[in-house]
Amino acid sequence: MKVTVVGAGAVGASCAEYIAIKNFASEVVLLDIKEGYAEGKAMDLMQCASLNGFDTKITGVTNDYSKTANSDICVITSGIPRKPGMTREELIGINAGIVKSVSTSLLEHSPNMVLIVVSNPMDTMTYLAHKSLDMPKNRIIGMGGALDSARFKYRLAEAMEAPISDIDGMVIGGHSDKGMVPLTSHATRNSIRVSEFLSEERLEQVAADTKVGGATLTGLLGTSAWYAPGAAVSGLVQAIACDQKKMFPCSTYLEGEYGLNDICIGVPVILGRNGIESIVDIPLSDAEKAHMQASAEGVKKTNGLLDV
Ligand code: LAC
Repeated sequence: MKVTVVGAGAVGASCAEYIAIKNFASEVVLLDIKEGYAEGKAMDLMQCASLNGFDTKITGVTNDYSKTANSDICVITSGIPRKPGMTREELIGINAGIVKSVSTSLLEHSPNMVLIVVSNPMDTMTYLAHKSLDMPKNRIIGMGGALDSARFKYRLAEAMEAPISDIDGMVIGGHSDKGMVPLTSHATRNSIRVSEFLSEERLEQVAADTKVGGATLTGLLGTSAWYAPGAAVSGLVQAIACDQKKMFPCSTYLEGEYGLNDICIGVPVILGRNGIESIVDIPLSDAEKAHMQASAEGVKKTNGLLDV
């Protein structure tokens, strides 16, 4: 199982680290445009192997896509990250060009890859990959909902003073401060609805804190987060590599599901060796439907800025 991660910045490197620690891939190639940078990160990570007990071989390369050849899964984290006060949408000008050229080079060398897009604005970058690459739709996946759901569970656990392992919940919709749709009415603690434990007002606060999860960290760190984004990507990569058929909310191209068309946006999907094995089309409440519709309009507006 060969995995390529493009972008050896904080998100790409922590993604490679988590993949290696989980020890399911034989090889991870880390690629960056900055001379020697991916080589350095790969060497540092490989020096963790005996300490952390993994056998995954991590190599770093400077912009040499021939070294990524025949990857089973490729992850694009490249592009500029958010600075405090910026929205993900403001990154489109620079990141669209990067995502288009990186994904084209990856496909040239790995025609059978499953592609995971992490670069922001993620739903629009996933849509761009769909429009610019000749690839089946099930093999292009946007990572956002897995991260947003982890942040939702963190906030629910905090509000209930409960261990996170007790909590289940999902965030669908666009990966943006306004576009996320935390499915509060479906979230549970050990199968009991969270509304049994938290007031409506407290749940609204949890949803609001979840939606600005990335922005809160950007404000604290001065750049966007990396541990949870890296962990979320590694979860998707593992589900695909190990054919787990696990359910995650991911950005995928919709053709009628959730009443939406010609858009990539977060919905629950089953991940396995073919990438997206199926889309899980669950019924939403009227409020959730309206929220999803508004989220889709926001994503389409950003898609409108693309030259595709
Ligand atoms: C975040 C970035 C990865 O939400 O979009 O932290």
